[in-house]
Amino acid sequence: MPVTDPVLLKRIPTAPWGDPKKRTIVGYDEYVRSGGYTMLEKALGMTPEAIVTEVKDSVLRGRGGAGFPCGVKWTFLPPPDGGRRYLAVNCDEAEPGTFKDRLLVDFDPHLVLEGIAIACYACRLDTAYFFIRGEYRHQAKVMENALREAYDKGIFGTGGLLGGTSDFAVECYVHRGAGAYICGEETGLLEAIEGKRGWPRIKPPFPAVKGLFGRPTIVNNVETLAAVVPIIEHGADWWKGMGCESSIGGPPSFGPKLMGVSGHVNTPGVFEVDLGIPLRTLVETHCGGMRGGKKFKGAIAGGVSMGILGPDQYDAEMDFDIGRKYEVMGLGTACPTVFDEDTDMVAVARNISRFFKNESCGQCTPCREGAQWMFKLLSRIERGDATTKDLDLLLELAGSMGIMPGTTICGLADGHNWAVRTIVNKYLPEFEARVKPYHVPVSVTVGAS
Ligand SMILES: Cc1cc2nc3c(=O)[nH]c(=O)nc-3n(C[C@H](O)[C@H](O)[C@H](O)COP(=O)(O)O)c2cc1C
Ligand code: SF4
Repeated sequence: MPVTDPVLLKRIPTAPWGDPKKRTIVGYDEYVRSGGYTMLEKALGMTPEAIVTEVKDSVLRGRGGAGFPCGVKWTFLPPPDGGRRYLAVNCDEAEPGTFKDRLLVDFDPHLVLEGIAIACYACRLDTAYFFIRGEYRHQAKVMENALREAYDKGIFGTGGLLGGTSDFAVECYVHRGAGAYICGEETGLLEAIEGKRGWPRIKPPFPAVKGLFGRPTIVNNVETLAAVVPIIEHGADWWKGMGCESSIGGPPSFGPKLMGVSGHVNTPGVFEVDLGIPLRTLVETHCGGMRGGKKFKGAIAGGVSMGILGPDQYDAEMDFDIGRKYEVMGLGTACPTVFDEDTDMVAVARNISRFFKNESCGQCTPCREGAQWMFKLLSRIERGDATTKDLDLLLELAGSMGIMPGTTICGLADGHNWAVRTIVNKYLPEFEARVKPYHVPVSVTVGAS
């Protein structure tokens, strides 16, 4: 069943996107009038275990980038021991080209809060932190106002969830970040909430076992938590009727997905579509086609860290198989940035590299030093000052840093590595045309006979 009716975006007007003054935020009263918080009521009538099972059965995969099954993650929590347990809601959304969570917060903050309340009840988490990136000042205010309304109505607070419908009480806080991409990495985020520098932690232990303040913690993305509400409403089978099975024998990609498209298309925006939609259909049907009728040259798969889909991959299906099928790291946030035929791919690679070298937290030598070097090499190539040896060195660096080669603590280095490597490999002639042949320096020994 294709997504014909919006699931998450149902209260969100589709236009006009650009004018913040015309935004209509769904307040508490309107949310309740349209059935809001009845799924929390339904959930509170279920056992926590039954909710976890429903979410597990739906195979809801995390919407923050890694695609890890949400219900399975929830089962990693140890049993309650009387101490604090946390939910950390990831609204950092600093991945370039990604702006889908912002929309949910902007227009439908109570949907997100209802998802948070259900998740806390299901996982027995008594404290939720809504971590929002520093640059989302407007969205932080929207969320703070919505949370105030929710507290006033007794959704959260010491009296028990939903005005005492449940004995289980949840406190929820909005925590504003200071504006660093690394705070989106789940353990960097935990450090930031603890008031420290956002330095990712070595895993294991994973947050479910030892997270915030050393206590069991679930980290979930905003869209993942919002999706829990319709799953409780309609059930796991309904969710599985949307999206697609894996075509290569992997885990399925069920459900609808928010896909934010930017770049050289006529109508950029966030669209709620079935997972598995071909990129071409997304661009041609939902985004009004390529800007100026130009030819498609490539698209970042879903956040720059995923790497690039090349000119012959316009028909790539946007699902969780994408990494194994099209030589990118994965679906990521499913927010592609589209490039037309006039794009200078060397400049794209250099610009992306600049972002990662600025955002490296500096803990791991391969990321800290490698990122600087990759940026320098790409700048040299762009200027026309590089040799073939520089290009080889760039690819060697890109292949050796990251959590996958086992040389760094977190995945930021992999994101840099995949972005650069896939761009160089898929547009190699453009890079080769910019470098000079490398000549081995000839050494002359004076006075030798
Ligand atoms: C460098 C880096 C940045 C990340 N940024 C975000 C982010 O902004 N938002 C997000 O939800 N997940 C981000 N993630 C993924 C999180 O670490 C984590 O997997 C996710 O929040 C889990 O939620 P989910 O299972 O609901 O997707 C990032 C990961 C890395 C390595
Ligand atoms: S990989 Fe980079 S960003 Fe991640 S912890 Fe290491 S230095 Fe920091």
